[in-house]
Amino acid sequence: MSILLTGGAGYIGSHIAVELLEAGFDTVLFDSLANSSRSVVERIERITGRAPEFVCGDINDAAAVRSVFERHDIDCVIHLAGLKSVPESAAKPMEYYRCNVGGMLTLLEAMAAAGVRRIVFSSSATVYGTSGEIPYTEETPTGCTNPYGRTKLMCEEILRDCAAADGEFSAVLLRYFNPIGAHPSGLIGEDPRGVPNNLMPYITRVAVGALEKLTVFGGDYPTRDGTGVRDYLHVVDLARGHVRAVDYAMGHAGARAFNLGTGKGVSVLEMVRAFERASGVKIPYVIGPRRAGDIAEYYADCSLAGRELGWKAELTLDDMCRDSWNWQKRNPDGYGDKA
Ligand code: NAD
Ligand code: UFG
Repeated sequence: MSILLTGGAGYIGSHIAVELLEAGFDTVLFDSLANSSRSVVERIERITGRAPEFVCGDINDAAAVRSVFERHDIDCVIHLAGLKSVPESAAKPMEYYRCNVGGMLTLLEAMAAAGVRRIVFSSSATVYGTSGEIPYTEETPTGCTNPYGRTKLMCEEILRDCAAADGEFSAVLLRYFNPIGAHPSGLIGEDPRGVPNNLMPYITRVAVGALEKLTVFGGDYPTRDGTGVRDYLHVVDLARGHVRAVDYAMGHAGARAFNLGTGKGVSVLEMVRAFERASGVKIPYVIGPRRAGDIAEYYADCSLAGRELGWKAELTLDDMCRDSWNWQKRNPDGYGDKA
């Protein structure tokens, strides 16, 4: 069986490619390398002993996307290609709508032309907005506060409409919570450009000496230690969830959303301590003001994914910290060749 991964050279896509190849699937990675490195492909081969097909192209280039389906017999698509920075989306909304929503339409048109009707989509916990009770279930009301989140919600709605229009169409909407960690080989991992926005890459950059100290965004939230609480999950667990989602898409029509997290909240200070434990490196930090748009606390109810996909996160917070550190330590400059 052959799976097309758009955005397959990225952080999450590369880990999914490894799990799919190891499970016996064939993979085609389609990526513009806008936020990834070509060397990922060779590293995936070193881990799995199998070379994924790689096509360099833009998801909004209709001819390039169509030609992938003409040249490969694709059974299911995992759509990860897109832009993902919340602050950048507020500054450049049109770029986000063009890439994320326009890209989804281009992909769906090419799928329709090729008769491919199964898709797994990278959605986000950000679709839940700010008003829900925790833990978030798939029934928690949606409502986004930024253009990035709205692109995810719009793509979910487009996929629901496609499923409503075609009784054989299958869309699995995976709402990721906070993926961190890296493959235990240390060959692939997260490699953000410039100063990281997100907590774990910031911590690992401090640990490696590239940044001086962590600023904790807010110490006065109504949480157990005053710092923000999130549901962090290991990227390898997340990748395995996609293998289950592909199986589900092969056997079920319709559009369905699933939360993928651990179901456990971890505060910023708990994360700092867990990282120090796993790495043996002290992380200097200061408590700064809250970051605009942040929510105090949320985590997932993942029981639906357990029941329907047969998936549950297995790896611990210590595994996440150990593997993030292993990746950063072995690759202090990330992939090095990122454009
Ligand atoms: P990433 O940036 O590492 O991967 C995205 C990939 O898409 C990159 O390799 C990039 O080069 C590629 N890409 C970007 N624009 C493209 C275009 N126009 N055409 C073709 N390829 C293009 O990000 P990631 O963390 O691996 O995220 C993958 C997906 O998961 C994204 O859709 C993201 O929105 C979603 N997601 C990520 C998180 C997270 O915390 N990392 C959380 C929720 C959802
Ligand atoms: N934090 C700090 N200092 C930092 C970075 C983060 O204290 O330098 C705190 C944040 O305030 C928050 C927690 O660490 O309490 C996690 O922040 P991240 O930026 O790592 O993650 P977010 O939960 O804010 O957002 C991430 C992605 C979004 C996605 C969301 C889905 O960045 O794109 O997860 O749950 F939508």
